[in-house]
Amino acid sequence: MNKLALFASGNGTNVQQIAEYFKDSDKIKIEVVIVNKKDAYVRQRAKILGIDDIYYGRDDFYNSNSVLEELKKRDINFIVLAGFLLLIPKNILDYYKNRIINIHPALLPKYGGKGMYGHNVHQKVIENNEKESGITIHYVDENYDEGQIIFQAKCEVTSNDTAETLAAKIHNLEKEYYPKTIKSIVEAIE
Ligand code: GAR
Repeated sequence: MNKLALFASGNGTNVQQIAEYFKDSDKIKIEVVIVNKKDAYVRQRAKILGIDDIYYGRDDFYNSNSVLEELKKRDINFIVLAGFLLLIPKNILDYYKNRIINIHPALLPKYGGKGMYGHNVHQKVIENNEKESGITIHYVDENYDEGQIIFQAKCEVTSNDTAETLAAKIHNLEKEYYPKTIKSIVEAIE
């Protein structure tokens, strides 16, 4: 059984979709949700889904081994970022080399980097009159949004779109492709 940890900071729609997708899987188990915001709504979702959620503050991530120790204790072999705001610290990156992936709500390398998160990304895409946007699933390295790209899917951006309507289109792509992509990557490393 592959045991996954999902890292999240916010609402948690991706966490919910991933957890529901793998609910009956005999190959992949969503073991724990790790959060860096005490009051993130994703924690409510985790409780409803029956998945443990653990909060760690910035110091726990960057100045201790406690997150890594917890992941090891739970036999986690793959990490999925789902709307997670912090850079992954070096001790976790080293231990989980090529076993951490992220989803970004734009077509990287455009609209990536520090501060490019959720709504900010969509706002910039609209301001720049882009004709298309999409999602990028990529491996995670020590920089924001720069690891090797695994998968992209596009959607049209029309002149009527707002950051909110674009976010809805992107969420649909995330729902359609993130769980499936996780499945194929994790099953390939078995
Ligand atoms: C998602 O759209 C995800 O792609 C994005 O944050 C949102 C989280 O939504 N991630 C990033 O912007 C990473 N730079 P959710 O909490 O409802 O899953």
